[in-house]
Amino acid sequence: MSRTKTRPQPEAEATAPRTRKREKTEFVWRRKHLLSLEELSREELLHILNTAEEFSDVSKRSVKKVPALRGKVVVNLFFEDSTRTRTSFTLAAQRLSADVIEFTSSGSSVAKGESLRDTAQTIEAMGVDIIVCRHRAAGAPLDLTRCIDTCVINAGDGQHEHPTQGLLDLYTIREIKGKIEGLTVAICGDIAHSRVARSNLWGLTKLGARVILVGPKTVVPSAMRELGAEISHNLDEVLPEVDVINMLRIQRERITSQVFPSVEEYSRLFCLTSQRLSRAKRDMLVMHPGPINRGVEVAPEVADGPQSTILRQVSNGLAVRMAVLFLVNQAAASKKG
Ligand code: CP
Repeated sequence: MSRTKTRPQPEAEATAPRTRKREKTEFVWRRKHLLSLEELSREELLHILNTAEEFSDVSKRSVKKVPALRGKVVVNLFFEDSTRTRTSFTLAAQRLSADVIEFTSSGSSVAKGESLRDTAQTIEAMGVDIIVCRHRAAGAPLDLTRCIDTCVINAGDGQHEHPTQGLLDLYTIREIKGKIEGLTVAICGDIAHSRVARSNLWGLTKLGARVILVGPKTVVPSAMRELGAEISHNLDEVLPEVDVINMLRIQRERITSQVFPSVEEYSRLFCLTSQRLSRAKRDMLVMHPGPINRGVEVAPEVADGPQSTILRQVSNGLAVRMAVLFLVNQAAASKKG
């Protein structure tokens, strides 16, 4: 990937967010798709986080809009349910002044047997600029990039990755802790079926954190050690040494066999209760990507407590998604130019 500096496109130059706190780098973003955090370099990850930091100001203004994507069309192409990601991408695109089309498979011609490729090519033919895709099949957004020319952003593909969730988690940790390098981060729960765990693991290890994957043996694949993670099956043992814990939902929709005896048994061993929290560092952050099963992975008083960052993660998601939409559009414009 080239690191040479080129002049930004005129539109991007005129509408780029104001630089503040962090030193401006020579880095030039080149990717017109965002498919995973696995494919990103440390430099690219930091560039997205720094761009998001600049966009975070927009939501604090009385007029919460900038013209960065004026005249552009963003399509939310969602084949799976979503509350946070879909709403956040919609609002992010609107704050950048794009037109937004909402697509859901129910009520569309997918119900008549139309394929993902045919659906995407049909939507592209209407002149869209960015497709945000969520799909139950791992690799579906990558497949789209092979049959259409439009920018593609992965909004969660099966058990593979959820890159913007990983980015907003990184952003939230850095915002509160002031750094990521050197922190110990535990990711606890159903790791095997979690795209959030994979994106977090790639992002955190590239930015220098120590990552411990915690959960029952049946849902924490030992092969993930090869990706740079440590593994533990005992939450109580791990808790006192971690700076951040990311509690994951049991992905009932993706589990095909019985992976633990019962939800009650799982909660007894892995639910973050206030009793467990009392044995952790007092400034440990409690994260959760949502949706939460209260009382299963996190006790209600912990989810709503002072160490919880759950709603802050949602707020930060907006700035992160504005940054991603802005950057992929900029890269597409520079390729055309
Ligand atoms: N965290 C997350 O992806 O939530 P949604 O499924 O509601 O988008």
